[in-house]
Amino acid sequence: MKINISKAQQFVAAGAVEALEPQVKAAQKALEEGTCAGNDFLGWLHLPSSITPEFIKEINETAKVLQQNCDAVVVAGIGGSYLGARMVIDALSNTFGWLQPSKMPRILFAGNNIGEDYLSELIGYLKTVKFGVINISKSGTTTETAITFRLLKKMCEEQMGKDIAKKVIVAITDAKKGAARTTADKEGYKSFVIPDNVGGRFSVLTPVGLLPIAVAGFDIEALVKGAQDMEKQCDISAPLADNPAAVYAAIRNAIYQSGKKIEIMANYQPKLHNLGEWWKQLYGESEGKDGKGIFPASVDLTTDLHSMGQWIQDGERTIFETVISVEKPNTSLQVPSDQENLDGLNFLAGKRIDEVNKMAELGTQLAHVDGGVPNIKISIEKLDEYNIGQLIYFFEKGCGISGLILGVNPFNQPGVEAYKKNMFALLNKPGYEAESKAIQERLK
Ligand code: PA5
Repeated sequence: MKINISKAQQFVAAGAVEALEPQVKAAQKALEEGTCAGNDFLGWLHLPSSITPEFIKEINETAKVLQQNCDAVVVAGIGGSYLGARMVIDALSNTFGWLQPSKMPRILFAGNNIGEDYLSELIGYLKTVKFGVINISKSGTTTETAITFRLLKKMCEEQMGKDIAKKVIVAITDAKKGAARTTADKEGYKSFVIPDNVGGRFSVLTPVGLLPIAVAGFDIEALVKGAQDMEKQCDISAPLADNPAAVYAAIRNAIYQSGKKIEIMANYQPKLHNLGEWWKQLYGESEGKDGKGIFPASVDLTTDLHSMGQWIQDGERTIFETVISVEKPNTSLQVPSDQENLDGLNFLAGKRIDEVNKMAELGTQLAHVDGGVPNIKISIEKLDEYNIGQLIYFFEKGCGISGLILGVNPFNQPGVEAYKKNMFALLNKPGYEAESKAIQERLK
């Protein structure tokens, strides 16, 4: 993995990135020594290097049970309890694999919304297959996930019988507290623990991400190896220029301080759409607080050049762009020649599709820079487990450092409670009587 900030540095004062070095070092030191805000949630920092072969084996063995017994596995979770798994599985899967017969179970995601049609349609499909459930909730009490799990547990038991249900329902939750833990222990489900000191959005390298990724048939050992290597590369002992996470944290803060408040993550591979979704949660929930924080947005290119491209090129100059560039595709396909050449594209005949994509990427970078959009380029060699593992740790470490430079606690999310309080008051949840009364007054 490489980071190139030359087309971003030209937009900030000379030496602005280097000037942030003391703050970068202080942030890294605070993370290492556990002296920063949110220091009870630093379990992610050396998580990759703490993962043992025995642990990988246990995850793979559980994955095998689900693979052998299920045509589909529903991952029930929201926020950090599903976005990492979804991102990795999408990045590594054949885009149209779901249309083909497969030996691996189809991985479906639920518990991340409260859409009645979504759940009804999911249930409609599950009636036709043998399915399992991975119920993921650190707190064990999240409404979206709990409602979904209620439905799926009942259905799984009715459809396959309690004994099989016990085999194909796995819980990933807190060691001791929460409804998900109580149910898992009572029913005798296989369960994994989300460490206390790892927050949801930093949990993709715990069973939260590793189990669904393994069930989908991917090599979690290689994923973890990528993260381990990046953990070494981003070590506090590395000089700023050799530490990609530190460079990323420094440049995005330098740009933010220069007045650009929106960072757009762009990819040129449809499989990376959910990398954008995972990254938005990681950075949005970590940094958007105390009236501060870069707003993380994402686009899929070249697709969105035909929708958001106009805004990026010519809209209000408050944005910068971080491009994820994949150097080599995993397949090979050329533009065919056409005798009639009605579309005038015979000049491309014989070229790899990826070459056209790369020229679109370069042309877009130059155009956006000309249009006043700083450009950070993050390149990976190819889409595989190892490279995705590297990206995961790189973004996590970059987020921890960046949030501390910004001066917030990157590891809490107090703002998420506001909607829950109102929702519970509106639904007359016991214990919310005063809030219910107050909200009814407001709605008069
Ligand atoms: O990053 C976070 O902490 C959150 O996004 C949580 O992952 C999300 O709210 C789900 O919480 P839980 O796992 O407790 O159901």
